[in-house]
Amino acid sequence: MVAMAGIVASALLSSMEIRPFSMKENDEGHDEKMQWFADAKVGIFIHWGIYAVNGIDESWSFYNEYLSHEDYLKQLDGFTAAKYHPEKWAKLIRESGARYAVITAKHHDGFALWDTRYGDLNIHKTPANRDLIAPFVSALRKEKLKVGLYFSLPDWSYEDYPNFTRTKKRYSNDSLRWQRFLEYYQGQLKELSEKFRPDLFWFDGDWEFSPQKWQATKVREFLLKDNPGVIINSRLGGHGDYATPEQGVPVVRPKDKYWELCMTMNNSWGYQGNDKDYKTPNQIIRIFADCLSMGGNLLLDIGPKADGTIPDEQVAILKELGRWTKKHKEAIYGTRAGLPPGHFYGPSTLSADGKTLYLFITQKPVHPLVIKGLKNQVNRIRIVGDGTKLSHKVVGKMYWSSVPGLLYIDVPVEKCDPQVTVIALQLKGRIDLYREDGQVIESN
Ligand code: GLC
Repeated sequence: MVAMAGIVASALLSSMEIRPFSMKENDEGHDEKMQWFADAKVGIFIHWGIYAVNGIDESWSFYNEYLSHEDYLKQLDGFTAAKYHPEKWAKLIRESGARYAVITAKHHDGFALWDTRYGDLNIHKTPANRDLIAPFVSALRKEKLKVGLYFSLPDWSYEDYPNFTRTKKRYSNDSLRWQRFLEYYQGQLKELSEKFRPDLFWFDGDWEFSPQKWQATKVREFLLKDNPGVIINSRLGGHGDYATPEQGVPVVRPKDKYWELCMTMNNSWGYQGNDKDYKTPNQIIRIFADCLSMGGNLLLDIGPKADGTIPDEQVAILKELGRWTKKHKEAIYGTRAGLPPGHFYGPSTLSADGKTLYLFITQKPVHPLVIKGLKNQVNRIRIVGDGTKLSHKVVGKMYWSSVPGLLYIDVPVEKCDPQVTVIALQLKGRIDLYREDGQVIESN
């Protein structure tokens, strides 16, 4: 079944464009390993750390010298996690329609949210004083959600890490100190891997040093040895399984086979009370539809407060996303990238067997929709999550020409979803597209 879906997907791809493979896409068994991720489509990113206390930029605020490291660390005293209910988080994540979550086990500031044996900057330095990752991992598993751990390679607080702030370095060349740092960070990673057996590791900050210096190959190897199915993002010096564009939605389809757009709801990763510049649910759902259309996932970020509550605005967005994903699940999970540009003015997806085409209608349809270059006969068209049958008409098809006509579909405005309406076209056979630039008629 998995292999079949792979064949259909690659056949669809090859009819459109040949893509260069990068990273681990050619490894044996890679597609099988990536299957849950490719089908999941939406995950929730969680940036939680002491930066939520003052509501300032995660780690970067001291690195960029907006405040001193000493003042940054004073936030430890305010990190209470007093109202932290990981089961509630997991339920809300499940309700949003996400199939996985990725939490910052450690950000660039070096503050560890789990009970680590390595280093001393961790939850025991705060009033929370307990492992915050362990109960979240169990809560996710109870909700049948996959577990992702974010881990920053740079650790700007660690005494043997070379970089401290933008202008201050601890050292530039000291192999003994670097060796101590390697042991420390790899020790933490092994600990996370053995303790939690995550489904995914989300690395960050690899840009500070070369893959060789991080020992990226070795790290990938030991993580896979412990946990053969673990998925690793691209930010381990290119030794990952999928690409991670950030914030801006890709305009052309990313060249990597597997990818995930990570994006904030407002302009901050962590909790910043005065950042009220939230994207609307409609904007987020449309961005999500663009990701789906290009075969990618969306990793949508939330930033809980220091007491462990999730800001109301973020809860509201997750709930509306949940209403929409629930209604349209057949057009989302397990689908493949949709039509290449030129056929339809909007996002689309295809069922894994290539026989159902889903069109995402992002604007009020004042006129019938049009699809160009679809060779298949269309058996039935309906509104997803509602069932209403829609009528259609093919215009401009000459019986003697192989160029398909224009397919017009009437969509009654009163049947539209308040966010994005999805319609399903059940095709006769697997999708077959006309991809040429027209022809001169030499004889009628
Ligand atoms: C950037 C930032 C970091 C944030 C991450 C999320 O790499 O360094 O603060 O956590 O993006 O993708």
